[in-house]
Amino acid sequence: MRNVIVTGASRGLGLGIARRLAGAEYRVIAVARKENSQLTAAIEEADRSAPGSLKFLSFDLGEIDRIPELVKSIRKDFGPICGLVNNAGISFDGSLGLMPTTQIEQLIRVNTISPIVLTKYVVRAMMADGGGRIVNMASIMAFTGYSGLSVYGATKAAIVGFTRSLAREVGRMGVNVNAVAPGFVDTDLTHGLTDEQRQKIERRSALHRLVKVEDVANAVEFLLSEKAKNMTGTVLTVDAGSTA
Ligand SMILES: NC(=O)c1ccc[n+]([C@@H]2O[C@H](COP(=O)([O-])OP(=O)(O)OC[C@H]3O[C@@H](n4cnc5c(N)ncnc54)[C@H](OP(=O)(O)O)[C@@H]3O)[C@@H](O)[C@H]2O)c1
Repeated sequence: MRNVIVTGASRGLGLGIARRLAGAEYRVIAVARKENSQLTAAIEEADRSAPGSLKFLSFDLGEIDRIPELVKSIRKDFGPICGLVNNAGISFDGSLGLMPTTQIEQLIRVNTISPIVLTKYVVRAMMADGGGRIVNMASIMAFTGYSGLSVYGATKAAIVGFTRSLAREVGRMGVNVNAVAPGFVDTDLTHGLTDEQRQKIERRSALHRLVKVEDVANAVEFLLSEKAKNMTGTVLTVDAGSTA
């Protein structure tokens, strides 16, 4: 089984991605701070069809200094890492003028510094092992504005810039680096939106519907697959036409 690390795989988009990949002959190393009942059920389900295809590793990605030891232990326990999905992310909304600076720092730490440092150590291992795939979770907020999400938007725009330059840097070593930019998806991260706001997003999208977790999992699975071998440095937007 090919090993793929999926961060933030205990809920929402990450759990959907982990489930999908575990069912597609990958061994998924699911990283999050806490295991929950949804993830436990997904592990049991994965074990029934492909034993050992979904493993949980508890780790706080805000602890940047411990990332090198995380990557080392994954490589030691599971072998070469063929894919990394930098999906874990947090969001605090609120006007910039009122946002505590500690929250600004936490957003940038978890959404930007942590995936960059994790990628640093994983990409080194990938280059030594002959190649791999990195998929970074951006957002349409990297391109469009949304009042109350300026810091979150900044972290996602940073991820797009990181994706493009890193693709140039590691391409000749056999590593592809791409991003996925989802539109609004109903998860814990977006529970703060009112029904009215949801309906507005749906109405304003070209397809008049909302994106589902499975749609994002499809894009990630594609970017990890052989079919995407000549794609690097790109951003796949999955937003039902919200930004069309
Ligand atoms: N939902 C959307 O509409 C949407 C749209 C565009 C982009 N995105 C992006 O997609 C990604 C996933 O979003 P989501 O909606 O699925 O979020 P979610 O439901 O809130 O899940 C976030 C995941 O990240 C993990 N996580 C958070 N902080 C962590 C930390 N310090 N260390 C380790 N794991 C951590 C959480 O697990 P623990 O809490 O147990 O650690 C959880 O598994 C994010 O990068 C988000 O910005 C989401």
